[in-house]
Amino acid sequence: MKLTTLDHPLAKHYLTVLRDRDTEPEEFRNAARRLCYSLVMEATRDLPMEEFTIGTPLEATTGFRSSTAVASAVRRAGLGLLDAVIDLIPHVKVGFAGVQRNEETAQPIEYYFKPPDLAEATVLILEPMLATGGSLSWAIGKAKDSGAKRVICLCVVAAPEGVERVGQEHDDVDIFVASLDRDLSDNFYIQPGLGDMGDRLFGTT
Ligand code: PRP
Ligand code: URA
Repeated sequence: MKLTTLDHPLAKHYLTVLRDRDTEPEEFRNAARRLCYSLVMEATRDLPMEEFTIGTPLEATTGFRSSTAVASAVRRAGLGLLDAVIDLIPHVKVGFAGVQRNEETAQPIEYYFKPPDLAEATVLILEPMLATGGSLSWAIGKAKDSGAKRVICLCVVAAPEGVERVGQEHDDVDIFVASLDRDLSDNFYIQPGLGDMGDRLFGTT
C-alpha cells in the first residue's frame, strides 16, 4: 500500500476551513469540494490516457483523452467529494456504497451498494474519513469483489490506526490524503480531525 499526503498550500487552506468548528455547512461543502480538486489531480497522475491527432487552428498535433474511470462514493461523507470528481474526470461512472459505523464498536454495517460495471476498472473510492479503517476496507473489498483492477482511495484526514488496517487488509491500494492526523479518540474519532464529516456536510447532528 502506498500513502501519499498532499503538500499544497491551497489544500492546507481548505483543510483548515474544514477543521474549524465554526465553519457552517455551506462553507464546509465548498471547502470539501475545493480540497477534492487537488486530491483528484494528485491521485490521477498515472491514469491511462489515449493519444489521438487533433488540429489546432495552426496545425495537427497530438491530443490526449483519459480513458473512463469509475468513482465509488462512500455515503454519506463521500458525497462531499463527488462534485469535484464529476467536474474533473470526463465520462466518469459513479457507484455508491452505503455503510454506517456502529456508534459503540465502530464496526461498519452495510446498507447500500450500487456499483456500475467495475470489471477491469480503475476505481477511485471517495472516503474522506479514514478512522479505524473499517468502512474504507469494506468499500475496497466490495470494489475488488465486483472486478476492480486497481483501487485508489481519496481521503481528507486519516488516523495512523486506519492506514495500518487498510494496509494489512489491502496491500495493493494507493491512498491519497490531505492530512495524516495524530490518532483516534476513545470513541473512534480522528484527532485533531474535523468532527463528523457527514453531519457537518449536511447540517445534521
Ligand atoms: C463515517 C465516515 C466514514 C467512517 C469512517 O461514517 O463517513 O465512512 O465513519 O470511520 P471508520 O474508518 O472507523 O470506518 P458514519 O458511520 O459516521 O456515517 P455517515 O457518513 O453517514 O455520517
Ligand atoms: N467519521 C467521521 O466523520 N469523523 C471521524 O473523525 C471518524 C469517523
